[in-house]
Parts: sequence; C-alpha cells; structure tokens
Amino acid sequence: MANPSLLILAGDGIGPEVMAEVKKIIGWMGAKRGVSFDVTEDLVGGCAYDKHGVPLHDDTMAKAQEVDAVLLGAVGGPKYDSLDFSVKPERGLLRLRKEMDLFSNLRPAQCFDALADFSSLKKEVVAGLDIVIVRELTSGVYFGEPRGIFVEGNERVGINTQRYTESEIARVARSAFELARKRGNKVCSMEKANVMESGILWRDVVQEIHDKEYPDVQLSHMYADAGAMQLTRWPKQFDVIVTDNLFGDLLSDLAAMLTGSLGMLPSASLGAPMANGRPKALYEPVHGSAPDIAGTGKANPIACILSFAMALRYSFDMGEDAARVEAAVEKVLADGLRTADLMGPDGGTPISTTQMGDAIVAALDASL
Ligand code: NAI
Ligand code: MG
Repeated sequence: MANPSLLILAGDGIGPEVMAEVKKIIGWMGAKRGVSFDVTEDLVGGCAYDKHGVPLHDDTMAKAQEVDAVLLGAVGGPKYDSLDFSVKPERGLLRLRKEMDLFSNLRPAQCFDALADFSSLKKEVVAGLDIVIVRELTSGVYFGEPRGIFVEGNERVGINTQRYTESEIARVARSAFELARKRGNKVCSMEKANVMESGILWRDVVQEIHDKEYPDVQLSHMYADAGAMQLTRWPKQFDVIVTDNLFGDLLSDLAAMLTGSLGMLPSASLGAPMANGRPKALYEPVHGSAPDIAGTGKANPIACILSFAMALRYSFDMGEDAARVEAAVEKVLADGLRTADLMGPDGGTPISTTQMGDAIVAALDASL
C-alpha cells in the first residue's frame, strides 16, 4: 500500500517554528516505527502572497485536494495587515476550508494532569478530561438567507436565518459517530429543539442516522444551554459532542478553556470521505501566527504536535501512535518542562520551542 500522504503548509510567523518540531516527530515515526509519510511542503498565507501574489496558489489547492491530510501552521502577521481583503493571508486558509468542503470542525478538550492546576475549575473536575466537540462549520445561522439589516416601518431590523438541510445534519452526524467509534463510543447531540424548528429537525436526523447506521454508538440529546452547564459542572460525562455552527462556536471555546493554554490546543476540520474512505482533512493548531513572539524561540509547539496526533488518529487509523505522542507530551509536562506560555506565577525557567520538540522526541524514544 502507498505511504500515507501529508501536505505541510507551515505558513507565517511561528507557523514554521512549531512545524519544525512536528517534522522531528514525523521523522521519528519513520525511523522508529516504520511508518513513512510522503510529505510535500508548500506555501500558504503571507509567504505565499510574497511569492505568488495570492495567499494560496492554485497548484497548492490542487495538492490539498489529493493528499490524505493537510497539516497547517498559522497564517498572517502585521506585514500583511494593509493588504486588500481579497489577498489577505486568512483568505488562503478560508479557500482551503471552503474548497475542501470541511463541514466538521473538531475541537478537543484534553487535560494533561501536569497542567490541571492551570484550569479555572477544580482539579478533580478536569483531571483526565478527554472530549471532542464536533461543530458543523459550513451552514447554519452564519450562512442562512435571508440575512441583513432592513428598515421596517420607522426602525431597523437585523435578520439572520438558521437553516439546516437534512443532508447537512446527516453528514456532520456521521462524522461524529465515526469519531466516537475511534474513541469512547458515545455521542451527545446538542441543539434547542424546545424552541427552534431547526433544532427539532437536527434531533430527528441525528437519531435516524444513529438508528440506521450507528446503533452500536451510545447516543444522547441535550439542549445546548443545559449542555453548557453540564460542560462546566462535570465535563467528563461526555465523549463526543455534536452541535451546529453557532452553538459549536460557543461550546468549543468554552470546552477549550476548561483545560488549556492557546499553545496547547489542536484542531481538525474534516470533509466527506474520499475514494480511499479517509475523510478530507485539515489539521491545525487553534492559535495564530503570534507575531509578538515569532523568531524568539518562545512558541509552544505542542498545539501543532497534538494536531499531528489527531491526524494519526482520525486520518490514518493510527490511534496507538497518536496515544504515544500524547503520552510523550504528558511525560515532558510531568517532568516539569514548560515553554514560556505555560509558566505559572511562581516562575521557573522556560525552555525553547526546539528544546520542547527534542524533549518530546526523547520521551517517544523512551516509550519504545
Ligand atoms: P495568536 O493566536 O497568534 O496570538 C495570541 C497570543 O497567544 C499572543 O500573545 C501569542 O504570543 C500567544 N500564542 C499563540 N500561540 C502560541 C504558542 N504556540 N506558544 C506560545 N504563545 C502563543 O492570535 P493574534 O495575536 O490575535 O493574531 C496574530 C496573527 O495571527 C494575526 O495576523 C491573525 O490574523 C493571525 N491568526 C491566524 C490564525 C490561523 O492561522 N488559523 C488564527 C488566529 C489568528
Ligand atoms: Mg469562536
């Protein structure tokens, strides 16, 4: 069988710095685990604009459509702030998401024990937490028509429309059930079926897809407001949460902050299955290009490394290796190693981006 293929788009600012540490892990996988990836590298964002005059070249877009997974660093920076909207670095990322039709956005909330004290919640509430929010990303109230600000009588009225088709709900539900099968086999779907017709349809379709195609997965339904309460009260009751674009925007940010620092947060955006059965996929840290620390060696590479671990689990069915990478991250944190963003108030000496990457590779070696 052909090697799994990866397109690496490191991007701007700290993107290339954190991606350099991921490449060490990719190299380690080949050398020590006998898993070689066919890696292609290309430009996205400001660096692509500098070379091609556009933030994403058509050839890069075509490559992204062909590979098994895209791994992206970050785009943007002050140098590009004055560019026309049509060629801004972010447009490169938006084009990737749109043309790959990445409708399912995965935001994990995973608690590394060594950082449990960082949480604003009690340690026992977050210790061991490992959940994923699946947010529908390409439809719902951010896109529905009619929309706009209109004049009605003698006042203005602002309108947005929550609109979901059956097929849009079905595909994100399938994405959530597939993930659950690779994890704790449990899905909780969140909407507001008590007050919204789109929520009633959402609940019905998720239940139908479950009954027909995924009866082995445990499914529950919750109103999204109650879900927000439960996420802060006892988040460990969940495994996979699936929800619409708007509620997902809020709930995924809420869930992310149960555990973490921005430098720790990975994400994935998945689309429809390709001919080989793997979903179209783009993995990236949640953070941006961090121009304030770019070039200083202060960037935490863990968010990008954990994004690669998600690729191992969700694109390549290499859950064991994904767990190995996550355990290596847990190990270095437990050893007290911290990049600057993870320093507590009592101080200590932070390590650099490359030192963190090297320590994680050393922990991987020790795991063999
Ligand atoms: P940001 O995420 O780049 O930075 C916010 C703060 O978090 C900064 O103080 C930064 O130093 C810190 N930070 C971020 N990642 C870190 C890491 N891995 N290790 C340690 N500290 C880290 O967001 P900001 O400052 O709002 O945006 C900066 C640029 O990035 C802008 O041009 C923005 O458009 C772009 N951006 C790109 C994104 C992407 O590529 N997906 C997402 C968000 C912003
Ligand atoms: Mg948000």
